[in-house]
Amino acid sequence: MSARNKIKTYIRGFDEQLDGGIPECSVVLLVGEPGTMKSSVAFSILYNNAKNDGVKGLYISLEQSRSSILDHMEGLGMDMSAVEDNVHLLDLGLIRKNLKMLGDQTWMHVFKMYAENLKNSTDYSLLVLDSLPVLELLAQFKEPRTELFQFFEWLRELGITTILISEMGAAATSYAKHDEDFLSDGIIHLKMEKVDDVNIQRRIRAVKMRSCNHSANYFTLLFGEGGFQTTKVIGESSFK
Ligand SMILES: Nc1ncnc2c1ncn2[C@@H]1O[C@H](COP(=O)(O)OP(=O)(O)OP(=O)(O)O)[C@@H](O)[C@H]1O
Ligand SMILES: [Mg+2]
Repeated sequence: MSARNKIKTYIRGFDEQLDGGIPECSVVLLVGEPGTMKSSVAFSILYNNAKNDGVKGLYISLEQSRSSILDHMEGLGMDMSAVEDNVHLLDLGLIRKNLKMLGDQTWMHVFKMYAENLKNSTDYSLLVLDSLPVLELLAQFKEPRTELFQFFEWLRELGITTILISEMGAAATSYAKHDEDFLSDGIIHLKMEKVDDVNIQRRIRAVKMRSCNHSANYFTLLFGEGGFQTTKVIGESSFK
């Protein structure tokens, strides 16, 4: 295992495959099709790091409302009262509605201002952005590759670990549109796999994770009372 501190995903079985977890200060893409539980996995990482290790986290949503996210996470068995001091949830979608008069170019400034102000007030060290494609859409980059490069550098300079949720169609061959996959330090891919005529299973794999001796294999991703867990891909789905 390398010397860098790791942020555990708390997905049972997966941290071992990741060589301990996500190296601190990484910028990681969490990519998948609709409904592959991207938001749930990312929130669960914040929740478990806050609950078990006292790590402060910030979840910035640009599409789903705060109440819808909280309802969903409570429905998955996460007790928000246990982490209310350590997990902050910012719904920028609301601000988007209220600040219609802002020109598109100011979006990046709005985002950075909120992220920096909250860094000063809450000192979070784990950030989730849900989602990167929506930020790109709002920011209307003129030169996406250059501006994304600067954005990733800005995140690294904040001294935090970042999970950027992104979308990928089932048939897509690339993990990102504008080289975000090359710019990122890690990529975790979530997908649905048809195992027979009837059954679909969720799968997870670490496509890349810089400075980690990780497995690049797919694992079955299961959700039960104890949270997320992975098993080897052999078709079993009996975890409750
Ligand atoms: N209590 C539950 N237990 C297990 N799975 C659930 C539960 N509630 C919802 N789900 C699953 O979670 C999925 C949605 O999870 P989530 O919102 O994290 O996915 P997502 O990949 O972020 O979706 P989107 O692409 O819409 O953003 C639902 O499609 C459903 O299959
Ligand atoms: Mg989502």
